[in-house]
Amino acid sequence: MTECISFMLISMRRLGCREVSDRVLEELKAKTELFINKGNRAPSLAVVLVGENEASKTYVRKKEEAAEALGFLHFQYNFNEDVRESELISLIDTLNSDDGIDGILVQLPLPKHISEENIIERISAEKDVDGFSPVNAGRLMIGEKSFVPCTPKGILAVLRYYGIETAGKKAVVIGRSNIVGKPMAVLLMQRGLDATVTVCNTKTPDLKEYTSDADIVIVATGHPGTIDASYVKDGATVIDVGVNRIADSSREKGFRLVGDVDYKSFKNRDVSITPVPGGIGLMTVAMLMENTFEAAERRAE
Ligand code: GUN
Repeated sequence: MTECISFMLISMRRLGCREVSDRVLEELKAKTELFINKGNRAPSLAVVLVGENEASKTYVRKKEEAAEALGFLHFQYNFNEDVRESELISLIDTLNSDDGIDGILVQLPLPKHISEENIIERISAEKDVDGFSPVNAGRLMIGEKSFVPCTPKGILAVLRYYGIETAGKKAVVIGRSNIVGKPMAVLLMQRGLDATVTVCNTKTPDLKEYTSDADIVIVATGHPGTIDASYVKDGATVIDVGVNRIADSSREKGFRLVGDVDYKSFKNRDVSITPVPGGIGLMTVAMLMENTFEAAERRAE
């Protein structure tokens, strides 16, 4: 008997996010035109940037560019690194009571002498398009309508776009920040999404024990190489939230961007994975635009 051995070439499935965010933004542009044609003012976003953090400056520029492309009004408030907390509070109070502003975003992180908590709490829940305020975080936790933080909301949009089921699946979230990890876990466990969720952190003794059994792994640690292909099983989905700058003199800017995941190690694995760049970062911007539109719609009601 002749034994027939067949080799199948396995390659990872790249979950590019450009096409997902483009579609979101296209739909939003049409909705915005309709909204304005009905006699409403264009949605408006106030963006506050403190200091000279290059990554923050890039994120803010991308948010402003997206707002501009949609025909939103947008206003940027720049402060030096040594700005007093009271000055920021005073600006937020002014923006809260300004009828010409629908959404307020303060780019994080803030310098150490400023309490992020105080700043975020001060933003009116109706204008908190980042969804970071205690009111919105609380509403999210109990399943009430709220502004959903942009990165987790964007991750759900990617899962939906690529037809990745969450119900009855095991999801592992690595990272427990208020911006990504916590809201991501809360969303995935909600009725309708119905995942079984485990949240890991820096003290988790054996990360692999959790990830190797997971159907969906969401990595939001801010550390390159947090996991590689040996951490996940065949058929899994890996969502890489990290955007890390690695010094690279061969690049014009002197750095390149990598995620929290060792992307290359997945090359010959049966795994679906989001790239960096071209990944979740695009979704964060698109969802911020969605939230700003939603804020404008609610104010116009
Ligand atoms: N810093 C990193 N991600 C975010 C975000 O989604 N919103 C704000 N305001 N700051 C950030």
